[in-house]
Amino acid sequence: MTTATTQQEILTGHVLSFAEDPFGTAPDTSVTWHEALVIRDGMIAATGDLDTLRRMAPTAPVTRHDGCLICPGFIDAHVHYPQTAIIASWGARLIDWLDRYTFPEEMRFADPAHATAIAARYLDLTLAHGTTTVCSFCTSHPASVDAFFTAAQARGVRAAAGKTCMDRNAPPALCDTAQSAHDDSAALIARWHGVDRLSYVITPRFAPTSSADQLAALGALWANHPTCLMQTHLSEQPEEIAWVAELFPKARDYLDVYDTFGLLGARGLYGHAIHLTPREAARLAETGAALIHCPTSNSFIGSGLFDIGRRLGEGQRIGLATDTGGGSSFSMLRTMAAAYEIGQLTGTVLHPAQLLWLATAGSARALHMDDRIGTIAPGMEADLVVLDLASTPAIAGRHVRADDIWEAVFPTIMMGDDRAIRDVRVMGRPAGHPPDTP
Ligand code: GUN
Ligand code: ZN
Repeated sequence: MTTATTQQEILTGHVLSFAEDPFGTAPDTSVTWHEALVIRDGMIAATGDLDTLRRMAPTAPVTRHDGCLICPGFIDAHVHYPQTAIIASWGARLIDWLDRYTFPEEMRFADPAHATAIAARYLDLTLAHGTTTVCSFCTSHPASVDAFFTAAQARGVRAAAGKTCMDRNAPPALCDTAQSAHDDSAALIARWHGVDRLSYVITPRFAPTSSADQLAALGALWANHPTCLMQTHLSEQPEEIAWVAELFPKARDYLDVYDTFGLLGARGLYGHAIHLTPREAARLAETGAALIHCPTSNSFIGSGLFDIGRRLGEGQRIGLATDTGGGSSFSMLRTMAAAYEIGQLTGTVLHPAQLLWLATAGSARALHMDDRIGTIAPGMEADLVVLDLASTPAIAGRHVRADDIWEAVFPTIMMGDDRAIRDVRVMGRPAGHPPDTP
């Protein structure tokens, strides 16, 4: 029943609704196309043809995006918001890049005012690129988490994040201890986990920067807070893997380090996961953990080629991410393009439906949020991005030759940027119009 406070709106366009996982069926039949959708009080109330929806919601204003693609808002499953100001830093591989660019920048987050400024800059940039949910590493300073969640809450966006824990092999100013990492993370869970659209992610940076004691403390924390996600990095570069073998000589392999300390589970998110042994791949698949594919980062830092076809064949849960600022873009369109290119280099030709699924429903599934976001269907949260499919002269010139909807969409995936983002909705509201605060 409609009440006086109900807010309704109809949006028209090519509304993309995944009926099935496009990796489990013929990709072009995995999608149901609708002419319009109804937003009611921040949720998707209905999809269908315009006449039917108009009869259903006769007083709702109609916003026309005819010819545009209406997708679920993009979901970036692995980012480092504190690296916003060092994106595109030249000439280093992972370990040098951390030492030369990343750690000095993260040290600046000792100043909460810096954290507040960068959190705002990061979230405004990602929203402008159509991303409505992010899962972010913060720095080791608890205040960097407060700054990020406060900025996300003010914009109404869904955000998962955690304090990055490290107690060795990093500058002393960034190091915590096993105990303080545990206690600070626990206090942040109490403060933020489940508040509004925010959730806490237990965040050991990666095995080389945590002692065995710290990994054990965080494994115990996760056991006590099983609804939290846990995020870290895994097997990104050969030098890193060799370092882990030196630091943890008793471990069978890199993944075994996490497994030993209770840091392997279905709610675990493992960034990169490029150079896996068959044992690691089998263990990840058996656990139901998520591998987060970061294609622009994997090229930019020279890490290697994530073999998505092989990993899909193993039944892995896979999310897609920019990995800002190891990744070279804030855009999930650019990230889909990079995933396509790396697919080509590893023998898997990804269909546009599969690329869009990875950036929406796939990442939602990786983050265990697929009951709320990632698909346009009644009952889901109305996080949406509207894409202009002819946003630049070059794209328009290709678009005009398209014979079907997928040919119309693919040039925007490959060449689109924030100019293609015509409208972004966060719980139904235009981005930049946050919920009223009490
Ligand atoms: N491994 C450990 N820390 C990082 C980081 O900040 N970025 C990337 N790409 N890999 C990492
Ligand atoms: Zn990362």
